[in-house]
Amino acid sequence: MSQRLESTSNIWITGASSGIGEAVTRELMQQGHRLVITGRRQEALDQLCALAPERMKPARADTTDREALQAIAADLEAFGSLDMAILNAGTCEYLEIADYDSSIIDHNVTTNVVGTARCLDIALPALRRTAQQGRPATLVIVSSSAWWFPFGRAEGYGASKAALTYFAHSLRADLASEGIDVVVVSPGFVKTPLTDRNDFPMPFLVSSEEAATRIVSGLRKGRTEIAFPRRFTWTLKLLGALPQGLIDRMAASMSRQSRKEQESNG
Ligand SMILES: NC(=O)c1ccc[n+]([C@@H]2O[C@H](COP(=O)([O-])OP(=O)(O)OC[C@H]3O[C@@H](n4cnc5c(N)ncnc54)[C@H](OP(=O)(O)O)[C@@H]3O)[C@@H](O)[C@H]2O)c1
Repeated sequence: MSQRLESTSNIWITGASSGIGEAVTRELMQQGHRLVITGRRQEALDQLCALAPERMKPARADTTDREALQAIAADLEAFGSLDMAILNAGTCEYLEIADYDSSIIDHNVTTNVVGTARCLDIALPALRRTAQQGRPATLVIVSSSAWWFPFGRAEGYGASKAALTYFAHSLRADLASEGIDVVVVSPGFVKTPLTDRNDFPMPFLVSSEEAATRIVSGLRKGRTEIAFPRRFTWTLKLLGALPQGLIDRMAASMSRQSRKEQESNG
């Protein structure tokens, strides 16, 4: 039986100022946990902390900036022994193949992979101290299920999340002997400011509150892989099990279709 989140826990969450991170923050706050919350927008962090100022602390930082993260390490330390770090801050930028620009790949990888890796500079020593006291220590990495199928325009985003998932699984192997759990969260489409920008249909879209419920309940159950909604993730898994030639033809046809729709819309 998992001991995670059974008693009041000290949690650091990045990307708390909107979307999935904000909804997870609200849910954990309602369950009585103590939270340090990070994002780049101070006002959004302050508004959230005002909901339970005695249990929440804003720690503004750009997660791609090593010095900015070092500057909040003391806040994290002063908050008490860290039980869980939820590294959720991320971005999604799509590539227009007719206008190929490698900076799209750069932006996705820098925020989603390098930014998450930099957060570990301060989270890992803190989680290690907790594990050494014989208490549950959990590192949660919010990836995506998008990379399970080669979607057109997602070269940068999909590559960043594939790399991030590998990073997390490899960390899981290395940290197992230290008693630190590594959890990978792989959502399908969730309605957030990030996906509000999407100009294509998003099958099985769920609300950020529903996503937060799935994530927190998976964490409480001791899961190390949390993927939802099942209808979407199972469809992707089944598609991914097809022969590569068939996957390539389906992906190319979906890409052509979406470009046609884009052209006719604008
Ligand atoms: N929505 C989906 O359908 C979906 C599906 C699969 C995976 N995900 C993943 O879920 C995570 C959250 O996405 P979301 O949909 O909730 O997006 P969102 O509403 O745009 O939230 C992104 C969060 O990340 C923070 N952030 C972005 N870049 C940052 C940086 N450099 N430094 C610090 N904070 C930064 C933003 O805060 P500031 O703007 O204040 O910096 C914001 O709080 C992402 O990793 C995303 O890839 C989302």
